Amino acid sequence: MEKRRCTAVILAAGSGRRMNSTVAKQFMLLGGKPLIFYALNAIEQSEIIDDCILVTGKEDIEYVKKEIVERFSFHKVDCVIEGGDERYASVAKAMKVIERGELRVQNQDGLVFVHDGARPFLTEEILQNTYRDACLYHACVAAVPSKDTIKIADEAGFAKTTPDRKWVWNVQTPQVFDTSLITSAYSELMLRLEELKEKGIAVTDDAGVVELFGNCKIRLSQGSYENLKITTPEDLIWAESLINRAFSEK
Ligand code: CTP
Ligand code: MG
Repeated sequence: MEKRRCTAVILAAGSGRRMNSTVAKQFMLLGGKPLIFYALNAIEQSEIIDDCILVTGKEDIEYVKKEIVERFSFHKVDCVIEGGDERYASVAKAMKVIERGELRVQNQDGLVFVHDGARPFLTEEILQNTYRDACLYHACVAAVPSKDTIKIADEAGFAKTTPDRKWVWNVQTPQVFDTSLITSAYSELMLRLEELKEKGIAVTDDAGVVELFGNCKIRLSQGSYENLKITTPEDLIWAESLINRAFSEK
């Protein structure tokens, strides 16, 4: 089968509140390089991904163009765009770029890989797993079986129910979709934000948007326990040791 066109959306427009640092977490140094380098490097090296939309804060666009994209010669970055206040708003802006045909090469019937820039350990294997599943099922997310037992809490902070662990997965990124599926789901989301707010429905990932508006089941694809999201300061300690191991293997 012919290889489908694949556009990655790399998200780096968050404020990193839980990291509690002065430097935005996507630019904090990990193994001597800015955190965002690693996801972009995996994209640049990948045989699957053709091009990339990099989403960052308005005030960081010039820095990112010069000190990240140019400095490390990330040729697959098609554009660096301004994000929104919430993760979903950042993704929605990238979807508009694709929908309006603003990419140098059109991707109207290919695939879109949405990936958190705060996940530095993206591998070619994960890109291949998710590519394969997206071709088969139209929508998939990298995920791993939960090692912990999960409790659903009540409002007072007591355990209410315990889902059987064999059905519980930790969801990661990339989250991969047919272009038409994800762009139309995000268009619908942006039209219906008020309604969701009234119903108390929060949107925390892209698959959630497709679950709401996409009419397509999401396949859980094999991610990796190492595909961490750097969220709080102790995550950086894990990440440093993984980076050191990766270097010592080479
Ligand atoms: N992100 C984004 N735009 C936003 C919010 C988040 O592009 N408005 C990106 C982040 O940069 C990150 C990814 O989405 O790469 C996952 O979000 P998260 O880990 O929550 O990062 P932050 O929102 O920056 O951190 P926090 O929630 O602690 O403030
Ligand atoms: Mg956040």
